[in-house]
Amino acid sequence: MANPLSSSFLSFFLLSITLVFLSSSSSKKLGFAFEGKETIESNNHLHHHHTHTVQVSSLLPSTTCSPSTKDPNRKASLKVIHKYGPCSQFGQHKAKTPTHIEILKQDELRVKSIHSRLSNKLAGGRGGDLIDLKASTNIPAKSGSSVGTGDYVVTISLGTPKKDLTLIFDTGSDLTWTQCEPCARSCYNQTETIFNPSASKTYTNITCRSNLCNELISATGITPGCSTTTCVYGIQYGDQSFSVGFFGKERLTLTRTDVFDDFLFGCGQNNQGLFGGSAGLLGLGRNPLSFVQQTTPKYGGFFSYCLPSSASFTGHLTFGKSRGGASKAVKFTPLSEASNGTSFYGLDTTGISVGGRRLAIKASVFSASGTIIDSGTVITRLAPAAYSALRSAFRKAMKAYPLTDPLSILDTCYDLSKYDEITVPTVAFSFGGGVTVELEAVGVLYIPRISQVCLAFAANSDASDVAILGNILQRTLEVVYDVAGGRVGFGPASCS
Ligand SMILES: *[C@@H]1O[C@H](CO)[C@@H](O)[C@H](O)[C@H]1NC(C)=O
Ligand SMILES: *[C@@H]1O[C@H](CO)[C@@H](O)[C@H](O)[C@H]1NC(C)=O
Ligand SMILES: *[C@@H]1O[C@H](CO)[C@@H](O)[C@H](O)[C@H]1NC(C)=O
Repeated sequence: MANPLSSSFLSFFLLSITLVFLSSSSSKKLGFAFEGKETIESNNHLHHHHTHTVQVSSLLPSTTCSPSTKDPNRKASLKVIHKYGPCSQFGQHKAKTPTHIEILKQDELRVKSIHSRLSNKLAGGRGGDLIDLKASTNIPAKSGSSVGTGDYVVTISLGTPKKDLTLIFDTGSDLTWTQCEPCARSCYNQTETIFNPSASKTYTNITCRSNLCNELISATGITPGCSTTTCVYGIQYGDQSFSVGFFGKERLTLTRTDVFDDFLFGCGQNNQGLFGGSAGLLGLGRNPLSFVQQTTPKYGGFFSYCLPSSASFTGHLTFGKSRGGASKAVKFTPLSEASNGTSFYGLDTTGISVGGRRLAIKASVFSASGTIIDSGTVITRLAPAAYSALRSAFRKAMKAYPLTDPLSILDTCYDLSKYDEITVPTVAFSFGGGVTVELEAVGVLYIPRISQVCLAFAANSDASDVAILGNILQRTLEVVYDVAGGRVGFGPASCS
């Protein structure tokens, strides 16, 4: 191939990736594992609280940041910050905060891309797609104008001497990448100085002939390219954001004591989309190229996080078991076997309760869709039958409050402007292994304004589409991924 960075090459590559309509890193369908088996649930999890009493004034995030204090038991722990809130240090390069309608629209795109990656329908040759499809899609380059690939960021360092980079972390994708000089084709504005591999003593390009180059396809769904002898990756997200560049390895510094040589990552030369001032993405999925898998020798495939209750607080992302192991209060459910071999963390939902009462939802409703947990999806998606049962029980318990206009995909919204205090029914999810997780009030509500406070759940359009536990549901819970142990755990609130 001619000059690797000639615009014709990258145009070709770029064109190609726009044509791969959400190629899958796996075409495996979740669910079905327990089809037909009624799950018998132990009933010894007493719900201590059937309702939450909430001060209405506390529902809106404050305009100032109240950072959490560091837990001395957490060693390799990074502060988790919402991309757009007052704790974000993106300053002048902070992308314009999107409207709620835009946030929910981007969320729909992410969910669509997850559904197609996990669907059999798109199974089939990826390589062929690059050539066969007609140029019917274009990249809508609305750079920086809206939510991209996740809402929460952490700061790591790369290179020698090391440079701080703030990356979106995403349990639903694998390849870690950052924008790199010389930005041969395009870089979006980011807060920190763009990483320059030529200024680092520890950067190495991966060659096209390396087996590592071939492994990219399973992490990105896109056949790698070749530029002279350097392996070229391409990755595109559900919202049409993308990054294309050189596949390299480099020293990654997580904390003063936790340093990883030869960390494989994408050094992006052509990056566009909705990354909102961040320097790129930290992939926490299940593929061998993900950060979690690459650091398994040190952390044993174990990490946890707490997403804060609102953008005016910070949470944490911690790698490795904290001293003394996982807290006894953390309850574990097995990773679903159907999700093995995909990027996603699957678990088996067995029931939902509202106000302490178990909803009448057939086990087959949960098993036909399967469930994943995702840090980057905002609104939890449920099978249509599960959502309608949840909605009617929630509305019944909230009948004292006036319903108001729906907001995009959210159809159960209340006008609370006349109330100082409200009573919200407790929502709890049960998972395989007899684990029941009670959600906080902030975990069930999406709150654009006090006059429009919405139930933060929506229905999938198809009963076979995977259910997704989104990041609002996870707020303030300690979520523990024991990947090597094949299980995910939930603990009580571990951040504000
Ligand atoms: C990027 O930053 C430059 C300089 O700060 C500014 O002029 C430009 O408008 C920004 N571009 C976008 C897309 O925000
Ligand atoms: C990596 O490979 C690209 C493409 O061949 C080349 O332009 C670049 O200089 C290489 N970088 C380093 C640090 O070797
Ligand atoms: C799925 O993964 C878990 C843990 O990673 C492992 O124990 C189990 O054997 C795997 N199951 C299948 C069917 O591959």
